[in-house]
Amino acid sequence: MTTKEIRIDSKVKLNNGVQMPIFGLGVYQTRSGKETKDAVLYALEAGYRFIDTAAMYGNEKDVGEAVRESNIPREEISITTKLWNTDHGYDKAMAAFEDSRKELGLSYIDLYLIHWPVEGLRNESWKALETLIKEGKCRAIGVSNYMIRHLEELLNNSSTIPVINQVEFSPYLYQKDLLEFCRNHGIQLEAYSPLTKGYKLHDPKLANMASKYSKSPAQILIGWALQKEVVVIPKSSSKERIHENADVFDFAISPEDMKVLDSFNEDLRTSWDPSTAT
Ligand SMILES: NC(=O)c1ccc[n+]([C@@H]2O[C@H](COP(=O)([O-])OP(=O)(O)OC[C@H]3O[C@@H](n4cnc5c(N)ncnc54)[C@H](OP(=O)(O)O)[C@@H]3O)[C@@H](O)[C@H]2O)c1
Repeated sequence: MTTKEIRIDSKVKLNNGVQMPIFGLGVYQTRSGKETKDAVLYALEAGYRFIDTAAMYGNEKDVGEAVRESNIPREEISITTKLWNTDHGYDKAMAAFEDSRKELGLSYIDLYLIHWPVEGLRNESWKALETLIKEGKCRAIGVSNYMIRHLEELLNNSSTIPVINQVEFSPYLYQKDLLEFCRNHGIQLEAYSPLTKGYKLHDPKLANMASKYSKSPAQILIGWALQKEVVVIPKSSSKERIHENADVFDFAISPEDMKVLDSFNEDLRTSWDPSTAT
């Protein structure tokens, strides 16, 4: 698949039949208040239909306000939020979900994720998420920062397969084995920090590739994820860069250059490292 075959509102079908956009806006470290509200409104104006937030980001309220202010029908926008680490366990997870739903001011959440595989409690929390699905309060449930061993444990403990595993994923952290494991089990991989938080945008290797395609380094990184059919959520709070990051559906990275990008891997983690999560 090349990015030319994908549109900004193209969807992937999750293992429970729900469809969600393959491309969205991340709002981690987007300041609560005007900065988040503006970023979400810029994104929705630019055609984004999917926003990734979390209780931990402290900006769910602003995301919800922007969604309402946009006047775009609610069902056309997909909203993800996440269960924070201090809210694990069945009852606490149920309460935390309700807090998030109220903060967002939405009647339902599209996708609720376990933010991190908290030891000893994650399987109890997963039961709460299964209840939320049964009660119709969210459309899909998944996990984040799960390595293969965390996924195996979950699959052995529950008949509900997570729809998504959201992990750090970029050419500089090409988690090939995890991608294959997820594919083999019907779990959609979702790439966070797809722009390496900006750290690698000046890498000469990447700059060369960008000039070859007359695209920016950020656009090449987003194109690489999309061509792997990985859901991707670049973050920006700048109107210009929000537009730039969405201008990726008119070029195709050749199979040879996809391999070159794969070879950039250096196991770079710009966020936390789930290999430490037992
Ligand atoms: N589940 C998890 O544990 C987890 C962890 C991390 C992130 N996430 C999610 O993934 C999303 C994206 O990851 P991220 O925020 O860590 O990092 P990212 O998207 O890889 O990079 C964001 C950084 O790149 C800059 N940037 C954006 N577009 C650019 C462009 N076109 N040219 C140059 N610089 C650009 C942004 O600055 P400006 O804002 O100034 O443009 C910001 O500093 C998050 O917002 C969050 O929703 C999830």
